[in-house]
Amino acid sequence: MAGLSLHSVKKRFGDTEVIAGVDLKVEEGEFVVFVGPSGCGKSTLLRMIAGLETTSSGRIEIGGADVTHVDPAKRGIAMVFQTYALYPHMTVAANMGFPLEMAGLPQTEIDAKVAEAARVLHLEPYLQRKPRELSGGQRQRVAIGRAIVRQPGVFLFDEPLSNLDAELRVQMRIEIARLHQQLGATMIYVTHDQVEAMTLASRIVVLRAGRIEQVGAPLELYHNPDNSFVGGFIGSPRMNFVKARIIRRTDEGIELSAPATGLAKLIAQPRGASPGEGTEVTLGIRPEHFVAAKGSDATLAGQVSVVERLGGVTYVHASLGDGTMITVETRDDKGFGEGADARFGIDGSKVFMFDADGQRI
Ligand SMILES: Nc1ncnc2c1ncn2[C@@H]1O[C@H](COP(=O)(O)OP(=O)(O)O)[C@@H](O)[C@H]1O
Ligand SMILES: [Mg+2]
Repeated sequence: MAGLSLHSVKKRFGDTEVIAGVDLKVEEGEFVVFVGPSGCGKSTLLRMIAGLETTSSGRIEIGGADVTHVDPAKRGIAMVFQTYALYPHMTVAANMGFPLEMAGLPQTEIDAKVAEAARVLHLEPYLQRKPRELSGGQRQRVAIGRAIVRQPGVFLFDEPLSNLDAELRVQMRIEIARLHQQLGATMIYVTHDQVEAMTLASRIVVLRAGRIEQVGAPLELYHNPDNSFVGGFIGSPRMNFVKARIIRRTDEGIELSAPATGLAKLIAQPRGASPGEGTEVTLGIRPEHFVAAKGSDATLAGQVSVVERLGGVTYVHASLGDGTMITVETRDDKGFGEGADARFGIDGSKVFMFDADGQRI
């Protein structure tokens, strides 16, 4: 087991800066998840940690040692990719033992380590099968087993579950959480899947265009996003964004309105100093934070476009007077008809406010 740290790490491909200076400390035994839109540099950063990409500037330390220019095989890491890359002609046992064979370990030692990994991953019945005789989930477990046998200080996962169907993904997600508890190993996990990030991570790192936007525990990011990007990225379905204007400051908070969206009056609490009267802000309202409209002034008015009834919850998609589309989560599947007008109540204590640059107010 080992912790690791990144110090002003940058990566350029030719003239393009893909990783624009990243600082991060990962404690021993932590489960850190990198999330961010496609192309933001998640894989590149992971591959730099693995040593599969060179680092243009900055320093990478694993277990306290500077490994910035150390060969991947000597970094004490193991990486699991989206594609399993198993050898089709080898058995499960041979696939898992392969890195140890390459390292020249005696066969008895290889057998013992493979047996132990197979036990942890529930692969014992399949050791003599070929990859083609396994399901997708079992194949990915073999790929993980191939990482485990090396007893790395740090496990690196790059979207390992993306090729699995939805049901298997849920199963494997739980397996990986269990594996982390059992091994207590440091893990860095790249995903674009909301739920994977929220459920697996001890801390989430939100990346955008090669920079860290925010780092924190999943619920910390959910409850306290620093900016609209993080607010919009963490949480599913996505946070709604609605333009509004500050009318005045009151003892209870600041009073906002947005006539174009039917919002007459909303009192909300700023996080820091409140901007002045007349300032345009963006409200961030999570779908799960809408309340019954009743007779309140704090409501949005819109036309319902689509109603998705999932049984437990219903998602109402509506378009506001200014064209903004919103998604509202409700437990009440009645009362919302497609094409009909509707009002949606806002709970001022749960609303986020962002300035013109998207920074949290
Ligand atoms: N070998 C490469 N040469 C040039 N550009 C690359 C190379 N690898 C990745 N990139 C670029 O770097 C950016 C980040 O890529 P990547 O790390 O794969 O993103 P992510 O994993 O977050 O989707 C992308 O714009 C991609 O096109
Ligand atoms: Mg990637």
